[in-house]
Amino acid sequence: MTKPIVFSGIQPSGDFHLGNYLGAVKNWVARQDDKTNYFCIVDMHAITVPQDPVQLRIKTRELAAILLACGIDPDKSTLFIQSHVRAHAECCWLLNCITPLGWLHRMTQFKDKSNRQESVLTGLLDYPVLQAGDIMLYDANEVPVGEDQKQHIELTRDIGQSFNARYEEPFFTLPKVMLPETGARVMGLDNPTNKMSKSFSHIRGHLVKLLDEPKEILRSFKKAQTDSGNEIMFSDDPEKAGVNNLLDIYVAVTEKSKEEALADFANARGYGDLKVGVANAVIETLTPIRERYNELMSDPAELDRQMARGAEQARAVADPKVTHMKEIMGLVLPS
Ligand code: TYM
Repeated sequence: MTKPIVFSGIQPSGDFHLGNYLGAVKNWVARQDDKTNYFCIVDMHAITVPQDPVQLRIKTRELAAILLACGIDPDKSTLFIQSHVRAHAECCWLLNCITPLGWLHRMTQFKDKSNRQESVLTGLLDYPVLQAGDIMLYDANEVPVGEDQKQHIELTRDIGQSFNARYEEPFFTLPKVMLPETGARVMGLDNPTNKMSKSFSHIRGHLVKLLDEPKEILRSFKKAQTDSGNEIMFSDDPEKAGVNNLLDIYVAVTEKSKEEALADFANARGYGDLKVGVANAVIETLTPIRERYNELMSDPAELDRQMARGAEQARAVADPKVTHMKEIMGLVLPS
């Protein structure tokens, strides 16, 4: 039986945080054996907002090491850097020419991000079209992401459908979004009404970085915002959003059920014990990843070799797909 094809991506800008891990990467790693996997470091998405070139290069290599340290296995998954595969940029252009502008203006991420920029770049508006191309070049069936990406995957399906209807049915496979059961939306520790996000990494205590030392992780959790009560429970009540977020994080890292999680804190003497318990569970998960990361970073040539291998595998799929796209759109192929 053929395995389902999985594609997902992550930007190399900013710091990789617990939300990225629980919302996306933990899931990528868990299902590697059962799927054909493409995982992409989307550096061309990162430059849709201004980046320092030196930092971007550093962060891109760091992210490759982080993903390998989290357990992405290059023998089971194709891990590559987006800009190494030219078909992504080409596919984006071709899809731009069938995507109505109005669809892009409706994207909530564009609205959020553009409100925070002094000058909004064309690439930021076009971001979801590049993303749609990423996914459909590989005919991905499944896209494991956090909840914030749901709208972009729905748009991908709309773009794919529109292309198929206009040119050739079924040229593109329409992908399904795959959200994790818990951890699809990890909230900021400083303010549990905001999603944990690299955009707020300048606010102390907002996010937990994957590479934070244990004492830093403990400090962040100890300062996490909760409420004035003392009841440890899962709840949709906005008042209890802080406690709910802590419990969700605990369930996601320990893979326990909600009942087991509550039982673990049945004797807690208030939120202080909850915060320390969650911090310790997170530290236990992240410590081996951090250690493996340090080993990988000590051999940059090997990291570069792995990325080159991934790009070669990705090109073998993406290049013929984009050539086929051009052909059916009426472009003359070079002889
Ligand atoms: P990025 O780098 O912003 O996020 C990477 C992944 O992390 C998830 N995520 C979260 N999950 C739970 N809680 C949070 N607080 C949280 N913050 C981030 C995101 O949902 C994402 O899965 N646009 C994509 C990158 C991309 C992509 C693709 C994804 C480009 N091409 C093709 C899938 C398929 C993004 O948000 O990256």
